[in-house]
Amino acid sequence: MHLHKYEKIWLAFGVFALIIFLSVVGVSAFHQGNTPSGGHMTIDPEKVRETAPFNEPGLHKKEDGTYEVSMIAMAFGYDPAKLQVPAGEEITFTLTSEDVTHSFSIVGTNVNMMAVPGQINHRTHTFDEPGSYLVVCNEYCGSGHHFMSTEIEVIQQ
Ligand code: CUA
Repeated sequence: MHLHKYEKIWLAFGVFALIIFLSVVGVSAFHQGNTPSGGHMTIDPEKVRETAPFNEPGLHKKEDGTYEVSMIAMAFGYDPAKLQVPAGEEITFTLTSEDVTHSFSIVGTNVNMMAVPGQINHRTHTFDEPGSYLVVCNEYCGSGHHFMSTEIEVIQQ
């Protein structure tokens, strides 16, 4: 088989680039221990309400002084439906869905998670300003999708 000089050069370049990229991924995964984001936290989607922390939806203070909000998305709303959280405190939202895929997106913040049945998602946020924050579902989830919203009341302590 005859290969043109340029073909050989590009072939060598391609193989070289492949080795570099695979090495980067390999070192990152096996040496530095990086894994795909989100972890692999799963629950039985049939038993959401019997599984901690979703057996008690709402705001909880953790031992380290930060807060956790356990939140269930469902057609077509959220549990808890009313939520008050303190301003200036670190709040971790822990989210799942008990029926179909929804989302939990707090307008005006970087909190934007998918709520997937059987999966647990986390996002930490600190509300600097007190006020009312709109939460919407931005995954199409059925006939009531565009009514699916709630509000978070951020209060000054
Ligand atoms: Cu829930 Cu769209």
